[in-house]
Amino acid sequence: MKKEKLVKKYDNHVNMYEKHRCNPTLAQWRKQLIENNVQGKVLEVGVGVGANFPHYDQENVHITAVDFSSEMLKSAKQTAEHYQLNANFIQEDVEKLHFERDSFECIVSTLSLCSYPNPIDVLNHFNDWCKEGGTILLMEHGLSSNSFLSVTQKVIDPVFRRISGCHCDRDILKLIEMSNLQINKVEGYWLDIISLVWAKPNKVN
Ligand SMILES: C[S@@+](CC[C@H](N)C(=O)[O-])C[C@H]1O[C@@H](n2cnc3c(N)ncnc32)[C@H](O)[C@@H]1O
Repeated sequence: MKKEKLVKKYDNHVNMYEKHRCNPTLAQWRKQLIENNVQGKVLEVGVGVGANFPHYDQENVHITAVDFSSEMLKSAKQTAEHYQLNANFIQEDVEKLHFERDSFECIVSTLSLCSYPNPIDVLNHFNDWCKEGGTILLMEHGLSSNSFLSVTQKVIDPVFRRISGCHCDRDILKLIEMSNLQINKVEGYWLDIISLVWAKPNKVN
């Protein structure tokens, strides 16, 4: 799918994302991932409508929030104001971002690795942008460990992609393992369709 079409798709889906911003199951996982784990300069990519914002410690974070959809960013800005977060917003394709090495204490990506054409490159950028001793927090959806489900996910992926704009058949842990990041901890939910990952940069790379 062409990028312009994808951006438009996300622009058009903003109401749906707003409706599900406080989904209790997702909110519980977001809280688990973020609360008490994040401080300092934080990069959140594919920020959407700011569904993670309630879980940041407003006293101790400055968030740089990135999304290529202007409608998503508009909504995220309102969410940040609501939670009185210290944040700046960048409208850009994550794959085209440039930051200095070691710019952030923490990088957060939730439900967005499924969208990028080159997810391993994005993870390797996280490795560069995150300071040594920093944290990379991921909550991503992907291929189930259940063989029946995973076959189904592979079959429906082209249609899923056309409707939602993202892939449902990515092996998230494999992608992270193939990147420069080092995994600290993983939790899997819904037959491992959802992965919560606590990782850190590996600065040897
Ligand atoms: C499935 S939504 C997830 C939103 C949010 N992270 C959450 O957890 O609810 C994916 C988000 O990533 C954004 N996105 C997808 N591909 C992107 C890219 N290449 N560059 C910047 N943003 C992107 C979309 O606009 C959308 O807001």
